[in-house]
Amino acid sequence: MIKEIIPKKEYAARRSRLVKSLKGAIGLIHSGNLGNSLHETYRPNPNFLYLTGLSNEPGALLFLDSSNQVESKQVQLFLKPRDPEIEVWDGYRSGINQELRQATGIETIFRIGSLDRYLTPAAVRCKRLACLQTFSGCSQPVSSDFALFKKVAERIPGVVIEDHSQTLAKMRSRKSSHEIKVIRKAIEITSRGFSRVLEQLAPGMNEFDVQETLEHAYKIHGARGVGYNTIAGSGLNSTVLHYQANDAVLQPEELICIDSGAAFQGYCADVTRTFPVSGKFTKRQKEIYEIVLEAELAAIRKVRPGVTFAQLDQAARGVICKAGFADAFMHGIGHHLGLEVHDITPDEPLKEGAVITIEPGVYLPDEKIGIRIEDDILVTRTGSKNLSEKIPETVLQIERIMKQHRHR
Ligand code: GLY
Ligand code: MN
Ligand code: MN
Repeated sequence: MIKEIIPKKEYAARRSRLVKSLKGAIGLIHSGNLGNSLHETYRPNPNFLYLTGLSNEPGALLFLDSSNQVESKQVQLFLKPRDPEIEVWDGYRSGINQELRQATGIETIFRIGSLDRYLTPAAVRCKRLACLQTFSGCSQPVSSDFALFKKVAERIPGVVIEDHSQTLAKMRSRKSSHEIKVIRKAIEITSRGFSRVLEQLAPGMNEFDVQETLEHAYKIHGARGVGYNTIAGSGLNSTVLHYQANDAVLQPEELICIDSGAAFQGYCADVTRTFPVSGKFTKRQKEIYEIVLEAELAAIRKVRPGVTFAQLDQAARGVICKAGFADAFMHGIGHHLGLEVHDITPDEPLKEGAVITIEPGVYLPDEKIGIRIEDDILVTRTGSKNLSEKIPETVLQIERIMKQHRHR
């Protein structure tokens, strides 16, 4: 068993910080649901996971009642009911007892069926309902807390629904030292996968073999899985931004664009490297590779507290445009990284402690050349630290390592 890195008291501190921010309002976070198909894997709502560390409580709800005078009742956890017949299928569950309180670090735990009994008086008392979840687009289901609050507001006159959706975005986007440790570990595991690929990459392999090589290495080095579906696109497929098939045979002279990251204790790595299948870049591939790398380094050099993604994008795009490939870089420069691969993004410039990706690319389908280079960058007090820098990146490094392994 691998030791959990984030201590229980950090989750408790996150909850109290959130309760304080509510200033008399109530908020709630659902854990998300488990479908009843064997094809689905339950992924907790990342806000719920961030606040509780509980990754195996579908159907639960965290209720934050900052208007409650009793401190131990300001945070209440509602769990789905026990059902001995369902437990035979889905797994045995604990009763509500001291052991569970200790394991969760939460004093006040009820079953979800009794939610009304606590939510309604709290809403009557404080009349302020705080939406903590990010709002959904018009074509999506209404965010889960807003949906419930609308029902509460229909029943209690004078209740106001407020927008607090920036609070968790701001909290989650500045990683604690424990979170940085977990992310570093996810990246270190990811680097093991990329090393294995560099050792084995050769024409005749299938893209799926590359995916399997990476992901097997992740698992034997402590990951339970990936942060997102691995992209392993060779030749023309390297130019498909979210390529998923991973089922072509690698040809000599082709590039393979590999975008993959292990998940460790809920946190994701997100790394892209583009390698020449035969171990050596062609002149044209190298020319474009150097432009993408220069663009990436230009953006990384600009990372520091106070900058925006727009400024980082501009730094990389300037290099790519100057080289004449303006239309061949059609995605953004990067995103926050954490419990989600595209992690929650606050409406503010970068702060110390943020972990982001920088990932410019140039995609030329007519030449079957797709090159993306992606690193995971920690924003430090004075600048940045590239957390994935150990994964070979320059033409020289890549060709040297691949040559060593081909000569074995
Ligand atoms: N792996 C998805 C991305 O790089 O954004
Ligand atoms: Mn990626
Ligand atoms: Mn990314």
